[in-house]
Amino acid sequence: MRAAVLREAGHLGVEEIDVPVPGPGEVRVRLRATGVCHTDRTVVEGKMPVPLPMVLGHEGAGVVDAVGGGVTDLAVGDHVVLTITSGCGVCRQCQLGAFALCEVAAPHMLDGRLPNGQRRLTRGAERINHFAMQSSFAEYAVVERRSAVKVPDDVPLDVACLTACGVSTGFGAAVIRAGVGVGETVLVIGAGGVGLAAVLGAVTVGAGRVIVADRSAVACQLAADLGATDIIVGDGDGDGDGDRDGGGDRGGGEDLAARVRALTGGGVDVAIDAVGTAGTAAAAFTALRRGGRAVVIGVADPRAKVSIPLYHLIDQRVLTGSTNGSIRPHVDIPRILDLYRAGRLPLDRLVTRRYPLEGVGQAMAELGVEPGRAVITF
Ligand SMILES: NC(=O)c1ccc[n+]([C@@H]2O[C@H](COP(=O)([O-])OP(=O)(O)OC[C@H]3O[C@@H](n4cnc5c(N)ncnc54)[C@H](O)[C@@H]3O)[C@@H](O)[C@H]2O)c1
Ligand SMILES: [Zn+2]
Ligand SMILES: [Zn+2]
Repeated sequence: MRAAVLREAGHLGVEEIDVPVPGPGEVRVRLRATGVCHTDRTVVEGKMPVPLPMVLGHEGAGVVDAVGGGVTDLAVGDHVVLTITSGCGVCRQCQLGAFALCEVAAPHMLDGRLPNGQRRLTRGAERINHFAMQSSFAEYAVVERRSAVKVPDDVPLDVACLTACGVSTGFGAAVIRAGVGVGETVLVIGAGGVGLAAVLGAVTVGAGRVIVADRSAVACQLAADLGATDIIVGDGDGDGDGDRDGGGDRGGGEDLAARVRALTGGGVDVAIDAVGTAGTAAAAFTALRRGGRAVVIGVADPRAKVSIPLYHLIDQRVLTGSTNGSIRPHVDIPRILDLYRAGRLPLDRLVTRRYPLEGVGQAMAELGVEPGRAVITF
């Protein structure tokens, strides 16, 4: 089968590898579509340590093609989304409802293995690692049964795939983790595939003002088309002094936070950082009104340290984060798709480009340049 394999940082190439065979408790999925998330690019750039070689891709959807021993509740022909939140259902975190923090699965996000410790990808005698427990930049994926979320046949798979990562992450950050309420004021920093899903989530649950900040004017325009009420074009992490102090970019996000506080007469109820630098995280937090909630989901700089004013915590502002929107995958992915089917969540408008697998490099290069999500179709 064809698969996009990362062999060294910066080199993602499509090559022929073996069709994987599912073991007990696993299923094989014929991928039909996979979104291209910025996290794939961060891995290609070598900013997240992973074992190589590795088949990347973690926003896949397809059709069950074979089931391993003991799998009785999924059948060949079922349509599935491959969630990155493969909760075991049994550990303490899963029992508390925090499936994205599963003690069994979460450690396997970057270690090249399925949650059961197995690796099913090979090229002859060579073992190839899985990414995010799925590796969807390939014609077939073998995943554990719990990573495959059954979805209705009538949802196009090139739309459904977005719920594997980006849409769940953005929508869930707003609706589940921050719990945006009717009429609340929301700031979203970063209007890529993830941030736009946060905008859609906030709009869907009846947020009042939805302010979007992105350095890209075309990304801001798409956000406005999707329901953002205010857009701010510019960097979200500058200190706003045009380097007058000569100290370089301290990256404190003061400029954006000050503009948002001025726009809203004191700050927003909820801020979502879908960029993820020290400056954008600080901007999200300092743009809050007293008692507001900031949720960081971007990881543009995985090593960043955030500096925030102590007294803002005393004023009961909350700074937290979320993995994959803190979803319960087998509940929330079908719910999100039901909203789409009911015409209340226009996920298809996030898909702006479709490529064959060979276009994966181009799709990655376009992140932050072209608005919306690129989807690879097979
Ligand atoms: N927490 C999670 O579970 C999770 C899941 C998926 C993605 N992510 C992360 O979320 C982030 C966004 O992913 P995406 O796929 O939407 O990326 P993307 O490239 O599609 O979008 C990023 C957007 O941010 C804008 N941007 C970048 N730097 C900026 C800055 N300094 N100021 C203002 N705007 C800026 C870009 O113009 C672009 O529109 C990435 O860091 C990704 O790794 C996290
Ligand atoms: Zn992702
Ligand atoms: Zn668990």
